[in-house]
Amino acid sequence: MKKEPIFALRGMKDTIDEAKKFSYFIGIASDLAQKFGFSLIQTPILEQTSLFMRSVGASSDIVNKEMYRFVDKGDNDVCLRPEGTAGVVRAFIEKKLDRQDKTQRFFYYGPMFRYERPQKGRFRQFYQFGVETFGEASAYETASLIMLAKNIFELLGISFEIEINSIGCKTCVKAYKQKLQTFLSSIDLCDDCKTRKEHNPLRVFDCKNASCIQNYTHAPKITDNLCDECQNDFDLVLDLLNGLNIEYAINKNLVRGLDYYTKTAFEFTSNALGAQNAIAGGGRYDALVEALGGKPTCAVGFAIGIERILDLMTLRHDELSANYIGVLDERLIKDAFLLSSKYRKSHKIHCETKARTLKNHLKHASKMGVKKIFIIGENEDKNETIWLKDLHEQREKIISQKDLERELD
Ligand code: HAM
Repeated sequence: MKKEPIFALRGMKDTIDEAKKFSYFIGIASDLAQKFGFSLIQTPILEQTSLFMRSVGASSDIVNKEMYRFVDKGDNDVCLRPEGTAGVVRAFIEKKLDRQDKTQRFFYYGPMFRYERPQKGRFRQFYQFGVETFGEASAYETASLIMLAKNIFELLGISFEIEINSIGCKTCVKAYKQKLQTFLSSIDLCDDCKTRKEHNPLRVFDCKNASCIQNYTHAPKITDNLCDECQNDFDLVLDLLNGLNIEYAINKNLVRGLDYYTKTAFEFTSNALGAQNAIAGGGRYDALVEALGGKPTCAVGFAIGIERILDLMTLRHDELSANYIGVLDERLIKDAFLLSSKYRKSHKIHCETKARTLKNHLKHASKMGVKKIFIIGENEDKNETIWLKDLHEQREKIISQKDLERELD
């Protein structure tokens, strides 16, 4: 009896066709992050549910509606991480890095899980590349991170827009929340916003309900209610962005969907995507380390949504560099295999272990997206030469086998 195939879960997908772009992206982003002083950190995918309750926030949609949460065999309430920051902060405190009194920078990449309604650019398992800086209170670090994200996108040839806002600190948010609650009491709210109003009124700005969105255009905005310290910090970030020639738009409704933000928050969007157009988001979270039981440590970070970036990336020819070595006669396979093996530490080489006609080699190699094709037939074997075709420059020539290394891509 024919067995039924098993499919991936809804909102989850395999990375196969896009794997080349994925690795290229990770290479560019990791390299640049390291140039900005970040080093790799990897934290578990599964964490205690309370970690996200206390960081992302019990009133956020992510925690309230979207967590993959279950009780494990040891009776622990756990969930698949919906984002990366909380786990990095937990590790930072657990490893006592909060006591080191110095700037520490980490980057990470990996899968995140949110039980959202899947659509173009929105998955239930998706990948993020993120960076987090600890111990740098200054607006210079905030501006540096925006510059890092900008540099990553520019190296990938991706255009973007930046929206920025200040969400204030404990001091200014407290007074502002009261003002906002008074405003919310004067208008009609959807059921979700009624709850948001009681637990964390700022979250009303996450509402997707059209009439709520319309009503909140008249709401008082945190940006207009900042304390002096937050205002000065925000002004300096904007001044630095101007100095760096980075264009941005202030979006007073930008509160981000996570509770831990303080002061500057920002989002990168692309108008080449559909409704899910945010390609990166981040900001300061100066109170989170303390809220999770660590020594008060200011922090700032951002994360890039990798699937959305892969949609926007096109690989150029020189990024697909690779060599293909093939033979026309079966008796030559072993020699070609041994010859190519000498250079595989330093070059990307596919040695085809099936003899084919020249036409079939060309077809096969171009399907693989290689740049240079090296073919050895009987004549080449006798003369210790190789026939070479450069697919991108569309030129062919005969080279000596001794010159192979120099000719490899
Ligand atoms: P976030 O804005 O929730 O921030 O997510 C960052 C990025 O992840 C988004 O801009 C988007 O590109 C991508 N993303 C989010 N949800 C999905 C989804 N369901 N499917 C595909 N892509 C998605 C954070 O997660 C914060 N931890 C960022 C941060 C780091 N803030 C400070 N440090």
